[in-house]
Amino acid sequence: MRFLKTPLNVIGALVCVILLASISCTHDDDVVKVEGCTDPTADNYDPKATVDDGSCTYGADDFEKADGIEGGKYYDKFFASSGTQWSTPSDPSVNIDDITDFGDFYRCKQCHGWDLLGRAGAYNGRAPNTTRPNVSFVNLKTYVQSATNQELFDKIKKEGGRPVDPALTADGTNGEGDGHPDYGTIFTDEQIWDIVKFLKTEVIDIDILYDFTTQGSYPDGTISYSNIGKGGNADNGSTYYNDRGCGNCHGADGTNLIMGGRTLGKFLRDKPYEVHHKTKFGQLGSPMGPTATTDQEMKDLYLLLTDPVLFPTESPSVTDLDALKTATPPVIDGVVDAMWDDARVLETTTEVPDPGDDVFQGYVGNSNDVKLRALYDDDNIYFLAEWADTRKDLNRQTWYFDPGTSR
Ligand code: HEC
Ligand code: HEC
Repeated sequence: MRFLKTPLNVIGALVCVILLASISCTHDDDVVKVEGCTDPTADNYDPKATVDDGSCTYGADDFEKADGIEGGKYYDKFFASSGTQWSTPSDPSVNIDDITDFGDFYRCKQCHGWDLLGRAGAYNGRAPNTTRPNVSFVNLKTYVQSATNQELFDKIKKEGGRPVDPALTADGTNGEGDGHPDYGTIFTDEQIWDIVKFLKTEVIDIDILYDFTTQGSYPDGTISYSNIGKGGNADNGSTYYNDRGCGNCHGADGTNLIMGGRTLGKFLRDKPYEVHHKTKFGQLGSPMGPTATTDQEMKDLYLLLTDPVLFPTESPSVTDLDALKTATPPVIDGVVDAMWDDARVLETTTEVPDPGDDVFQGYVGNSNDVKLRALYDDDNIYFLAEWADTRKDLNRQTWYFDPGTSR
């Protein structure tokens, strides 16, 4: 029994155990070593540590504090006047006009796409021109999934990357304009962390919203979409659309604002890769701010907007009545058959004219709001007229053709 023969050692061991329960101690020389992170600037700095074990981590605090919604705006168009906190380049020697005059060379989305897929996604047919760069070959989506926060931060900041240089961007087809910029000269570290947080936590993955196939390769490729709004619920989408006030600006059927020639329904059906971003992060430079939206709500909205009856492709016209060819003629029985849904509506107000000879005596100047639609087949043209009437009256006057307003 060694302990009994050497009582001093036993006492030494007990002192160690009592005083330093959690710390290693050695019998041989009684030196105390505490392993941990010894760098006071690290997130997990341990003031008790005496030996650095390589476990220091950095950036968690910055990531924690970052604002991913703000980061999403920066991804779009950080220099847009309203809605972002970016106002000047972080490097005072950088001329802000050199950024804004050639803005598309600095917008993440121009090179990496709204779907983060670069050339492998919606932008595989988006050739460069004098005002926009080549789309990047990088697949940002898979990179973001595999990179640590710190790696992502370093890649975005890219010290020594393409400088802000007016000569470089003067010719939009100049290859160097395609390079990832040195964002250290444009953003503060906090702003870059906002972008990291956006990419890690706020991006809506397009895979949950639609399917697509691409044909051909950049820049001559094409893309087609299917299953838009998969997994969504259109009734919930309708609730979302109303509750968040989308209709206040876009109209109940999405036809009030025409965006690049598109109603909201058409915009979704043509550009499903973009709507999720604009909805969640807002349309910078316009009155439309960000709208907090979950993945499920976005699916619901997408499914709703695919409906061409509720969200038509054409806004109602106020001047022209287009007749649509129909394979089956409508039944003229006072019921509006389904084939009318696709015909463009002409919304107009009629006013009873005064052609002379007291033809419309008593009615001159009366006005009515009317909706007209027209269909035709090989033999006939059909008109559908809808107007509000206070009482049902089946007496009709003959049609009157007004040469004054004919076209
Ligand atoms: C003018 C085009 C352009 C712009 C604008 C641009 N990038 Fe890039 N980016 C590239 C190219 C090209 C690469 C690949 C080569 C490289 O790393 O420079 C790249 C690489 C990256 C990488 C590393 C990916 C990898 O696989 O290593 C990340 C992350 C990234 N970009 C994010 C962003 C973000 C975020 C923005 C906006 C703040 C942005 N990029 C703006 C062109 C661009
Ligand atoms: C305060 C008014 C307002 C509200 C509310 C609003 N929008 Fe917008 N929205 C706009 C304006 C203005 C534009 C820009 C129109 C243009 O580009 O000409 C726009 C543009 C868009 C675009 C196209 C962006 C682009 O790239 O051109 C989409 C998609 C969109 N809105 C969807 C929505 C959805 C979904 C909602 C509800 C969550 C909504 N908007 C709420 C005013 C609004």
